[in-house]
Amino acid sequence: AKDPMRVLVTGAAGQIGYALVPMIARGIMLGADQPVILHMLDIPQAAEALNGVKMELVDAAFPLLKGIVATTDVVEACTGVNVAVMVGGFPRKEGMERKDVMSKNVSIYKSQASALEAHAAPNCKVLVVANPANTNALILKEFAPSIPEKNISCLTRLDHNRALGQISERLNVQVTDVKNVIIWGNHSSSQYPDVNHATVNTPSGEKPVRELVKDDEWLNAGFIATVQQRGAAIIKARKFSSALSAASSACDHIRDWVLGTPEGTYVSMGVYSDGSYGVPAGLIYSFPVTCSSGEWTIVQGLPIDEFSRKKMDATAQELSEEKLLAYSCLE
Ligand code: NAI
Repeated sequence: AKDPMRVLVTGAAGQIGYALVPMIARGIMLGADQPVILHMLDIPQAAEALNGVKMELVDAAFPLLKGIVATTDVVEACTGVNVAVMVGGFPRKEGMERKDVMSKNVSIYKSQASALEAHAAPNCKVLVVANPANTNALILKEFAPSIPEKNISCLTRLDHNRALGQISERLNVQVTDVKNVIIWGNHSSSQYPDVNHATVNTPSGEKPVRELVKDDEWLNAGFIATVQQRGAAIIKARKFSSALSAASSACDHIRDWVLGTPEGTYVSMGVYSDGSYGVPAGLIYSFPVTCSSGEWTIVQGLPIDEFSRKKMDATAQELSEEKLLAYSCLE
């Protein structure tokens, strides 16, 4: 039998946490043959709720769950973890300035970076979910210099999955038959959902999405706006932000990263830019990647048209501004 892997979920008493921890305990993130020990962190005000989640995990009698650490101590939470899913953060509240929210998150991600750097298992993989996800991940990277930059990522897989979902609904095909959409850039409404390389598996072979949809107007406007605004639409409908889809996509992100992407399929991950596709190096930017042996690689050589170029640059510009704002909070 495999040794258990330790998986940290921060903000575990929150909405996404509540959907995510049972998925991890059922093997959806790391595989049905991989035992896990869950580390759950939240803040003291949420300690009682966190303990309630722990009680429910015990009550669910998950066969793969070999231990539970539920704590408000960041060092205890980070000790020995192999995977860290950072869901905890400071939410934007009505009337708050962007800079104030950024400042709170910068200080959270700075201190959690130090704890991970000092106490996580070697080669720990980090996924930041909490918003502003790309910039929180960048701060985490800056303050955990001994964690390789390849090990720090942010979640845009939810946006990627939303794009697959929209194409599958539009064409009335199975979502598993659609692949290779791309989310470029920031996990915000400036992101660019790109279908130019996406294909659908049909009875007569693989076909480009553009050839099947035959409606460039929708693909260039309605589709993009729907994916960009989906988070807001969920809040409007549910009065809470997306949780089950965020949790499920976080599992997809880690599973593909650890266990690999299928041959010929790429997925979107927010990763540290090396300058690929003219994206400024030093930003955490969502790219198309393939994963193998626990490492992601940016898909190279995709042709980029002028329409895409503009949208990729605009979201990069927003990330550069966020980075400046985050750094101004450090002074
Ligand atoms: P929530 O408010 O229900 O839960 C957040 C939890 O984090 C709370 O229990 C809170 O006490 C905890 N927390 C706050 N500061 C903490 C700290 N310093 N250390 C540990 N825990 C801390 O929020 P929800 O709905 O679970 O969302 C979590 C985050 O994920 C938000 O920032 C949200 O914007 C983001 N999000 C990101 C998505 C993505 O695709 N990247 C999708 C959906 C949400």
